[in-house]
Amino acid sequence: MLDLLTAPIARHLANHLGVAESAVSALLMPPAKGVAADLALPCFQLAKAKGVPPPALASEIAGVLNASGLGVQAVAAGPFCNLTFTTAGVAAALLPTLATDATAALRSSVGAGKTVCIDFSSPNIAKHLAFHHIRSTMIGNALAHCYAAARWSVKRINFLGDWGTAFGRLIAGWKREGLTLASLDTAPDRVTFLNDLYVRISQAAKEDKAVEEEARTWSKKLEDGDAEARSLWQIFKDASLKEFERVYGLLGVTFDSWKGEAYYEDKMGPVLAELEAKGLTKIDQGATVVDLSALGFKKPMLLKRADGGTLYATRDLAACDDRFADFAFDRSLYVVDLGQSLHFKEWFACAKLMGRPYADRLRHIGFGVVLIWNDEENAWAKGRTRGGKIMLLREVLEEAVDRARAVVAEKNPDIAGEERERIASAVGIGAVVFNDLKNGRTGDVKFKFEEALRFDGETGPYLQFAHARLCSIERKFIEAHPTAPIADFARLTRPDEKSVLLAIARLRLALEKAVESDEPSALATGLLSLAGEVASWLTAGNHDHDARVLCADAGVSATRLALVRAARSSLGEGLRLIGLKAPERM
Ligand code: ARG
Repeated sequence: MLDLLTAPIARHLANHLGVAESAVSALLMPPAKGVAADLALPCFQLAKAKGVPPPALASEIAGVLNASGLGVQAVAAGPFCNLTFTTAGVAAALLPTLATDATAALRSSVGAGKTVCIDFSSPNIAKHLAFHHIRSTMIGNALAHCYAAARWSVKRINFLGDWGTAFGRLIAGWKREGLTLASLDTAPDRVTFLNDLYVRISQAAKEDKAVEEEARTWSKKLEDGDAEARSLWQIFKDASLKEFERVYGLLGVTFDSWKGEAYYEDKMGPVLAELEAKGLTKIDQGATVVDLSALGFKKPMLLKRADGGTLYATRDLAACDDRFADFAFDRSLYVVDLGQSLHFKEWFACAKLMGRPYADRLRHIGFGVVLIWNDEENAWAKGRTRGGKIMLLREVLEEAVDRARAVVAEKNPDIAGEERERIASAVGIGAVVFNDLKNGRTGDVKFKFEEALRFDGETGPYLQFAHARLCSIERKFIEAHPTAPIADFARLTRPDEKSVLLAIARLRLALEKAVESDEPSALATGLLSLAGEVASWLTAGNHDHDARVLCADAGVSATRLALVRAARSSLGEGLRLIGLKAPERM
């Protein structure tokens, strides 16, 4: 929303200089380091066009702006004109818009008319959602919200890994042990049930060739569409989805499409046929490969194994054609760990070789690993802890909620019952999610409960607390002033109030950056700055009664409340976009 501040200045100067408004607004930039100003206008280009020295034009512009009544102080410094807004000027430019359109700071129209597909989470079925799945799931979820806030039409896609030889084994095990749907459905965790079955049958297959043979037979039957094999596969899939839905429910994550790998099993023929017809394939030791050397790849990419089995890359190509047919996307994101970089580079290149119109619209959104603190070993571990056991995402979330419940009970004993539960869940889960999003996604993430749950520092609870604090001031204001006095923006004069306003105004740029670079951390950083400015502003009132929102002068108080509301709704909306809840008390 900085444009609300800069547009009147650009318009005024454009009139004065006889140039287009955009010719001025495009030049406005942050001031040089160490310069105490809000913006700088470098005068080189404008001076050249007028045929005057830049410092002369800078002085002229300073004079024009200081006489403009636009709530800005201008000082020429060599070829630059540095601009400092008055608090009242910023308030008058921003607060009326925010009063009628509470989330305006976190909306943009850069994506209007465009469609993005976001493939995220995409776990393999019959396996647990492990702690590391938080990364794809929550980076993807945050990007989906941010793109939507920037007016992209968003398709959230969960490309389930629901195909492979593991299912032949599971079916063989199920049959051997004579298991029933009831036994699966009454298990405390259906995926654990399937995992355990898989471990038992794999062990049996190791010891007995006949078991291995049975598993192979079932795999083949499944591929050939045998009714019994398919219906058992469907049971495993449904059971896995029920467990996944529990976790997605905790995280508040939804999807528009669940078409997984199995869906594409019979849709790869056309892709393979086309590659062959275009002369792009070769047979290499019985396997079908595509030669990508023209695009600088050292090795060919595997399309089909020697035994006829198709591969991950071939399925991704078929799925991409299908998505383009369904959605005609302008951009398609794959939120998958950096370990799969080569896979994406290869099949993106293959799409290019095939002349796909969408080849340049594909983006692999890679990310680093997550390391969790292991108390017993006193070291960072990669997803395994507590005696080498794999950390389940649900268990981490549940432990975070338990710990948050204790913190909330201690900090605010008045909150009880159902409300305490809701807040504990928002804070605990928010802590885990924010820890994952606050740094650039390509780095590795370290997770430690105590750190993530702190109420100070760069944490989710810190942002949520700033929001709750603003909500509480609003409640107190309404109690004190049942009929609210009129706000008068000229009465906002404090520099810390201006800092809060500017932090709000910068959020739109942070949102646009998050979208353009597929980096939720850009927005997370903007929200931390806003919460920091809010904390300094509100803390000033601890020592100085006149600085309080609820101060003696009702007019000033009402004006400050307009700022409280703007900050509260911007923080609340920002939290929603990155996938956190914003409780009103905590
Ligand atoms: N199921 C895969 C895995 O767990 C991730 C799938 C990512 N998406 C894709 N279109 N390849 O590794």
